[in-house]
Amino acid sequence: MNNPDASRFAESRAVVVTGGASGIGKAIADAFTASGDRVAVLDRSGMAGTIAVDVSDEASVRAAFAAARSELGTIDVLVNSAGLLTESPLEDMTLAMWNETIAVDLTGVFLCCREVVGAMRQQRWGRIINIASQLAIKGGTGLSHYSAAKAGVVALSKALALETAADNVLVNSIAPGPIETPLVDGISEEWKAAKRAGLPLLRFGLPAEVAPTALLLASDPGGNLYVGQTLGPNSGDVMP
Ligand SMILES: NC(=O)c1ccc[n+]([C@@H]2O[C@H](COP(=O)([O-])OP(=O)(O)OC[C@H]3O[C@@H](n4cnc5c(N)ncnc54)[C@H](O)[C@@H]3O)[C@@H](O)[C@H]2O)c1
Repeated sequence: MNNPDASRFAESRAVVVTGGASGIGKAIADAFTASGDRVAVLDRSGMAGTIAVDVSDEASVRAAFAAARSELGTIDVLVNSAGLLTESPLEDMTLAMWNETIAVDLTGVFLCCREVVGAMRQQRWGRIINIASQLAIKGGTGLSHYSAAKAGVVALSKALALETAADNVLVNSIAPGPIETPLVDGISEEWKAAKRAGLPLLRFGLPAEVAPTALLLASDPGGNLYVGQTLGPNSGDVMP
């Protein structure tokens, strides 16, 4: 049987959020903290109170998760939000640019998931929430590397979900639409205004409007039936 251990929900959960120093990850870390959970933030930014990590570096990921585990005791929930976005038409894209995006946005998710899956299966409870993007579904001009990485995150989440669901380790992804964060700061105001006008909701989302989807996926019983799903807080931009 696949029954969650009810006693786990009487206490606070131990949550790791990568990329939790900014944007969507920060909003998710804040929301878990506000709901009484213990949160370790892993980020490249080196901000005070965070554990330094480069999610694309195997040794760095190993060390950061060891530090998180010694701080939290265990890891019940992993949110992979670390990511970067650069832009280039494919014909001008350097291999270095392609490789950097795949390394951070896709390989980073693999490396971080690998750190927690075994222990989550052993404790027969775990939730992994990977922040993908709606561009995994619709693609984006100048974003072939990013779109491919995010489609990889969605597929990785489905495959891992199949491996772990019987042990009550549930893996899902969130595919946000455009969200007001530093990630989109570099995009021209002109493009953003046109994009907003084309959205059914006529506006980008806010990080705090994505965070409740992560809380839902981590919740009991609310998240119990989501396995390998892709949830889309996206202002109506994509309706799969
Ligand atoms: N903002 C959007 O419109 C949007 C839409 C869809 C998906 N996303 C995804 O949401 C996630 C969060 O993005 P955001 O918009 O909050 O951006 P953000 O730039 O505000 O936050 C990203 C965080 O990831 C960290 N980071 C980057 N590279 C890292 C690395 N190698 N190792 C560790 N940490 C690293 C950064 O330091 C930063 O704190 C990303 O995966 C992004 O692709 C964002």
